[in-house]
Amino acid sequence: MADPRSGLAAPPEGELRPERAPEMPGSATAAREIVEGEPASPETVEVQPPESAREEVLVLDFGGQYSQLIARRIRECGVFAELLPADVALERIRDRAPRALVLSGGPASVYAEGAPRLRPELLDLGIPVLGICYGMQAMALELGGKVEGAEAGEFGRTMLTLTGVGGRLLRDLPEEQQCWMSHRDCVMEAPEGFDALAASPGSPVAAFESSERALYGIQFHPEVVHTPYGTEVLERFLREIVGCEERWSPASVIEEQVAKIRAQVGEAEVICGLSGGVDSATAAALVHKAIGDQLTCVLVDHGLMRKGEADQVVKAFREELGIKLVHVDAEERFLARLAGETDPETKRKIIGSEFIRVFEDEARKLSDAKYLVQGTLYSDVIESGGAGHGAATIKSHHNVGGLPDDLEFDLVEPLRMLFKDEVRAVALELGLADKLVWRQPFPGPGLGIRIVGGEVNKERLDILRDADAILQEEIRAAGLYRDLWQSFCVLPVVRSVGVQGDGRTYAYPIVIRAVTSEDAMTADWARLPYDLLERISNRIINEVPDVNRVALDISSKPPATIEWE
Ligand code: XMP
Repeated sequence: MADPRSGLAAPPEGELRPERAPEMPGSATAAREIVEGEPASPETVEVQPPESAREEVLVLDFGGQYSQLIARRIRECGVFAELLPADVALERIRDRAPRALVLSGGPASVYAEGAPRLRPELLDLGIPVLGICYGMQAMALELGGKVEGAEAGEFGRTMLTLTGVGGRLLRDLPEEQQCWMSHRDCVMEAPEGFDALAASPGSPVAAFESSERALYGIQFHPEVVHTPYGTEVLERFLREIVGCEERWSPASVIEEQVAKIRAQVGEAEVICGLSGGVDSATAAALVHKAIGDQLTCVLVDHGLMRKGEADQVVKAFREELGIKLVHVDAEERFLARLAGETDPETKRKIIGSEFIRVFEDEARKLSDAKYLVQGTLYSDVIESGGAGHGAATIKSHHNVGGLPDDLEFDLVEPLRMLFKDEVRAVALELGLADKLVWRQPFPGPGLGIRIVGGEVNKERLDILRDADAILQEEIRAAGLYRDLWQSFCVLPVVRSVGVQGDGRTYAYPIVIRAVTSEDAMTADWARLPYDLLERISNRIINEVPDVNRVALDISSKPPATIEWE
């Protein structure tokens, strides 16, 4: 059945995706958490909370796949939230003076060897605590409730039934409602002094509370879109139980970041590498707002960009935002070095090292440049775990097209505490063009990793660029561009036989890759409508010389990756 809002075919029953926007199909992300023994999410590092947020909630990460998502949802409710490791020092928590704690889910059984324990002191800080999934079980275990390991567990859509009126936390919600479960152990009996609020077929106690002690637990995941009342439960906790009053918005960080940037860089010159993506663009716009012409942006055009992309960036920055921009046309340099190379890793290394060389050449021309702007996001900070403040925190396998951390610059990273959606809110507030703000992610090595199994050369790049431009145009015309995490073409360097007019052809295929995803860690192939696929295929074959076949990639990640190389 097609979803009327998105035009994408609906996901098969049981396939789920922890995302707010209900219009997108997908399964891989949700499917991940139910894999037993899934490794815990990476180490967490702390960022400076924004001054604009007077109230904050700390989410303690027990290793759940959705821990980041909990923090995001809380922020969407207008309360600043940060993710910290479950074993963070108590002193740190006290110093931060949060309004509440949320204990995340986790992959382990509370009875497993080495399973993270809940320190009882956390429940005596005098602030409300909400345990989710593992967090609830750990709380139950600590307070003398009964938690049992189960053979089967509960995974996916589950019916939740309120016991009585649902207590403070679930009051006024429907007596029966759908929720998303992902657990094996379950709470059989609530701790003494707690009320059981709900049950599900596999969870005799699926929610509990002691409003006297301000301790709350839910077995289900309120942060995923498949718990329709999830946001209401979080809102209830934050507003009614915790009593948060603030309506924090990510755009409110602009003024304080402007002040911070000014204080950090003083009169010095600042340089920023632009990729055309929303992160570096927003970081640059923010820094420009702070220090104007002390900022010079550098666009290294490696000739591996999409059609018209470099021009768009130049126009947006120079003309629309009035930002100083050096556009380095380095296509020949890159293509000369890529000649004859087919190995994916070698290609990445070549592109990466050449990028750095070109960037350094430009930086050297700005003799007073002491600072480098980077669009590091909160998810990068979390995922690069432990990289610490001030360090370059580009994901190691994605650092191609990024810069090494031994460059002689101090970093300016004004987006370190923001999630991607929040960066977009900041970008909109700063007046960046819609096209930039909503641009899908594009890898640093660009089209260089989308020509596979053969040399990257100008002729093939032009074919790929033309095919890709048609795909983008049609996806946008169908209103699906924003719904997709990424959509692009791949050119495998093989030729197959075709027939066009009266003659045989021997030409390249183009593969369409379109995925939905929450964070690129997992992704699902998008169910694009057939008529759209037909249009794309017809146009590519008719309009792009040397292409006689179009194929669709229907692989999810894992086990495939989003890119082909
Ligand atoms: P994969 O292919 O690993 O990609 O599923 C996950 C996300 O990362 C992007 N990607 C890259 N980005 N340099 C980048 O800047 C790279 O070398 C690189 N490789 C993959 C990819 O487009 C997707 O969004």
